[in-house]
Amino acid sequence: MVWQVEGGEADLFGEQCAASPPPADPTFAVPRAFVDLAKAAICHRDPERFSLLYALLLKLRANRKAMEDRADPLVDRLERLAKEVRRDAHKMHAFVRFREVADDVGARFVAFFEPDHHIVRREAGFFVRRFANMRWSILTPELSIHWDGERLSEGPGANRRDAPDGDPVEEVWKTYYASIFNPARVKVKAMLKEMPKKYWANMPETSLVPGLLAGAQAREAAMIETSRQQEGAMPKRRPTPDLPPARGCGANLLKSWEAIRAEAKDCTRCHLYRCATQTVFGEGALDARILFVGEQPGDQEDLAGRPFVGPAGEVFNAALEEAGIDRAATYVTNAVKHFKFVARGKRRIHQSPDAGEISACKWWIEQERELIRPPLTVALGATAARSLFGKVMAIGKNRGRAHALPDGSEGWITVHPSFLLRLPDADARCEERRRFVDDLKRIRDRADSIAA
Ligand code: URA
Repeated sequence: MVWQVEGGEADLFGEQCAASPPPADPTFAVPRAFVDLAKAAICHRDPERFSLLYALLLKLRANRKAMEDRADPLVDRLERLAKEVRRDAHKMHAFVRFREVADDVGARFVAFFEPDHHIVRREAGFFVRRFANMRWSILTPELSIHWDGERLSEGPGANRRDAPDGDPVEEVWKTYYASIFNPARVKVKAMLKEMPKKYWANMPETSLVPGLLAGAQAREAAMIETSRQQEGAMPKRRPTPDLPPARGCGANLLKSWEAIRAEAKDCTRCHLYRCATQTVFGEGALDARILFVGEQPGDQEDLAGRPFVGPAGEVFNAALEEAGIDRAATYVTNAVKHFKFVARGKRRIHQSPDAGEISACKWWIEQERELIRPPLTVALGATAARSLFGKVMAIGKNRGRAHALPDGSEGWITVHPSFLLRLPDADARCEERRRFVDDLKRIRDRADSIAA
């Protein structure tokens, strides 16, 4: 089988495939991982992508586990293509900048972007979800896509001159960017790596970067001085907000859960209640098929009284969405229900809970699991894994597969979302995020297959 991109060159690899015998049975099942890989790799601009994928398909037909051999050069090459496509998509999400123009219907937002690969159709859904209520167009050299608030349509490719060059909102955006620019965090090399110059032409805020960098040192000194003056001021206690109603359960179950939650409010099983604002109990669907266990509430969770509502929660929510898991249909809780921190001036710095604190708090997790009886419990990170399995479990070795729990259900392990936030290198972050999403997809598939 020789694959050829219309108007492009025939590839050599395709001719090797032609030597393979045609399959006798035309239909066969492939692992989901192949579909995920193919969906990304097929968007690469490499003309060999079709024949590489076809070759892998033939391999899988002979051996369904062929993709598990990561050293296989074919799998490795396709993984690299897929990684480059995902990275390109990530850049598109981050660097598309809309400019407002007026047409006969009203405001319309237009952006120009130059992706490296054929990702525009693949990523259209992201922009539709994100900007569902706006009318917008994204112009790229290959094609343009248009959203009128209801329907997505395609048009021919365009060039930068077809896009508007600035709008009134741009000044507001620049002011905002200048105000969030943190001189104490500037790492010029890392910034250029994450935001390559190639994208700068379409991004209004980049015109500010040289000036902001030049003034960075003076601003940093001023920030340190201000924070010194504010030292000692601790965040104020906020009332516990109403929790979203626990869904999908009978009245008795709901009553039992509410009773446990009320009891946990006054928990003094370890010393952490003394400094934390409040107990942060789990929340979500009481008929959840997946119960996620985090480590402990962070600063924002402690104030809000709800798990995963801060920066780690944002990473978690986005990864869940990408993996096709509805957070509202799951139950989310923490291994330790009080925020452990040390105060440094105005800031409260997270401290990992120790074995005694984890074990004291296990009481609550056990009650939650006993009530919900989820077929799958997922430990996010080492603390959660320790709580769930009662011993240290290495994440790398144990992630992404089922482990039997004493009650007959399955325990799964993956990384904690805040691990991704701490990675300084953009490439590593991108890769680790992909692995996290892959783990979540496997968990979703497993939950679906148990339900079926
Ligand atoms: N990290 C956690 O482990 N849990 C939260 O609720 C927030 C951050």
